[in-house]
Amino acid sequence: MKTGWIIEDQGNRKGLWVNESIFNVANGYLGVRGNYEEGYDGKEPTIRGTYINAFYDITPIQYGESAYAFPDTQQKLVNVIDVQDLHIRIGEESFSLFAGQVVSYRRWLNMKEGKYVRLVHWISPQGKELEIEFTRMASFTTLELFVMDVKITRINCDDEVTITSGMNGDISNYTNSNDPRVASDHAKLLHVVHTGVQDTCLQIVAETSRSRLRVAATTFHELTPCIEGRLIQTDTNLTKEYVFPKGKEVLRLTKYNVFTDTRRHEQPELCGLEIVKSVVSKGIKQIWKEQELYLEAFWAMANIEIQGDAPLQEGLRYNVYQLLQSVGKDKYSNIAAKGLSGEGYEGHYFWDTEIYILPFFILCQPELAKQLLRYRYTILGEAKIRAKELGHRKGAAYAWRTITGQECSAYFPAGTAQFHINGDIAYTYIQYYLATGDEAFIAEFGAEVVFETARTWIELGHFDDGVFKIDAVTGPDEYTAIVNNNYYTNVLAKYNMEWAVKWYRQLKSTHPEAWASLCNRIELTDEEIIIFEQAAAQMYLPFNDKLGIHEQDDSFLSKKVWDFENTPRANYPLLLNYHPLFIYRHQVLKQADTVLAHFLIEDGVSSDVLKSSYDYYEKITTHDSSLSSAIYSIMASKIGYADKAYSYFIETARMDLDNTHGNTKDGLHMANMGGTWMAVVYGFTGVRIKEDQLVLNPVLPKAWEGYKFSMQYRQAQITVEVNTNETVLMVDAVKPIVLEVKGKRFKIQTGKIRIAI
Ligand code: BGC
Repeated sequence: MKTGWIIEDQGNRKGLWVNESIFNVANGYLGVRGNYEEGYDGKEPTIRGTYINAFYDITPIQYGESAYAFPDTQQKLVNVIDVQDLHIRIGEESFSLFAGQVVSYRRWLNMKEGKYVRLVHWISPQGKELEIEFTRMASFTTLELFVMDVKITRINCDDEVTITSGMNGDISNYTNSNDPRVASDHAKLLHVVHTGVQDTCLQIVAETSRSRLRVAATTFHELTPCIEGRLIQTDTNLTKEYVFPKGKEVLRLTKYNVFTDTRRHEQPELCGLEIVKSVVSKGIKQIWKEQELYLEAFWAMANIEIQGDAPLQEGLRYNVYQLLQSVGKDKYSNIAAKGLSGEGYEGHYFWDTEIYILPFFILCQPELAKQLLRYRYTILGEAKIRAKELGHRKGAAYAWRTITGQECSAYFPAGTAQFHINGDIAYTYIQYYLATGDEAFIAEFGAEVVFETARTWIELGHFDDGVFKIDAVTGPDEYTAIVNNNYYTNVLAKYNMEWAVKWYRQLKSTHPEAWASLCNRIELTDEEIIIFEQAAAQMYLPFNDKLGIHEQDDSFLSKKVWDFENTPRANYPLLLNYHPLFIYRHQVLKQADTVLAHFLIEDGVSSDVLKSSYDYYEKITTHDSSLSSAIYSIMASKIGYADKAYSYFIETARMDLDNTHGNTKDGLHMANMGGTWMAVVYGFTGVRIKEDQLVLNPVLPKAWEGYKFSMQYRQAQITVEVNTNETVLMVDAVKPIVLEVKGKRFKIQTGKIRIAI
């Protein structure tokens, strides 16, 4: 195992489909799956994909039976122009890993340099021997750039070598009608409008069918030794063929590919050409250098070092790296459930971002966190329209799954009904504020989101005999739907409204002008604020005295418990083997629900309740959703179940690297990847961001010798080091901050805190 590398060797060169996801290269704007440039043998299944974050088409939703305000269209991430093609011929034979002899093979992702390399030593069926090194990179500093480089060394032969480099605009999306987690139809979304050569660059321009978005792929080839190529052009494809004469020298082709689209670039064709020119003049070495420097800065904040467990260390780093590869860096984009690594969940953004992914960005890359929160502000208008469609006078109903803000879920019981997404978004704006103290951002964006989401609870709920209730919603657990008083939803709604009241009063004095203009614009009054205050204070939080736990919802505990004993392993995930109604009639959870609520909002819940709740719900949770294990790990740490905390953590750390959910081929599980980081920081280290301080309660898992990570809190850089004897905190702040470590309070600006473990 090599630090900072993910390696596939000859021996584990299996599951190519899965490894396409694992070896994706992306930068938040652009993502390319780890397909072989030359393709497979035609028998291996593949999803050959290139994606631009938030570049979508619209497809109709066909309902057998529709009803009022069901969304009639959906948005879908488009598989765009494929520039991956590089075919190598030596004499009459084509290079393929499915023919001849593979003397050695290694593919790796170098997460320090931000490069992917595939190195092959190959002997053709007729005995011609080559060493071929493919390198690829999605640039973090020029987001439009995907660069490929191939180096060919002729060993024991001096034959003519031909490299054919292609661009293909005739692309379809992947579909599978048997799996609800991927699209079932509408494969062909993209149509080529132009192919041609401009200023020595090849360019394909394509357009989506309904959204009418345009994408341009512009490619420039650099050759060593420098030779001229032959162009082959069709309506949808452009290919350049380069024939290198006989000889011994090393051959090299660098392929600079630039993707531009009408969502971000006014004239993608022109812009593409300009960007290509500038990156080519910079040269490949400089581009690689910039990538390395970018990552050096990233890892300085984001690295978690574990001493004593190399495979978990690898999983953790990989997951964090993938978070960076997936994060949208403009106001149009966010983090899709599968990042840019595949087509599962059709490139949609879910609550996954707020509850599982933003915690990492808030504490390690607050500028990127801000960007993700900006995205939610950008789509607030759509959420307000949706609230009206759903029958409400006011407020904002954020779509359960979306790209541009419109609801894309056709199954409302486990989609639109998950109103908690409003609370999740509000919660995360509040967490960002508590972690950074960035009040200006709240005055400009956060307050409006929190006021509008608070309004939604008043619209959804009602006062009943001295309590405020919220009926007909679905909580995070998708094996239970449309229930009254889901504890998770109610507790977040309460928090959302409390903070709406707080910010209303706070901003009135700290940012009076912005406050007045906002209240005026959205017609928010003192009377409405008083209603928020009352509803929050009287929020009904179902509790079962006999069990000493909060009930997941009003009816949950009266249902029959799922027959786990007689459910064969093959029947999991249940969603693929039972009708939803059958599942809904049982006490069975797909994922953490009340236990998650206890993680997010722990104040006011006794440790006995936390423990009883964990004990009760854990027994009936299947973890069929990849969003579950991390939360069970964090809460196990909280209540002192060290072994469970560790074993759930293991499940999260290598979920994709080991394909434990069996569907990594459709893309990586981004929420779980954020969850791995959280299991260390919020779990083992017990970090909680409170109103006036940062709390830490570190423990060291038995199997480790120590661990170390950094985070930012209120402009302070904090490095946490936990070893077998003690926890050492190194603080470097611009002004004093308050930390509570293992129950002891410290006010510190710069220096070290040491506490025995
Ligand atoms: C989970 C949801 C999640 C979605 C996308 C589903 O399986 O139940 O909570 O938002 O996947 O990751």
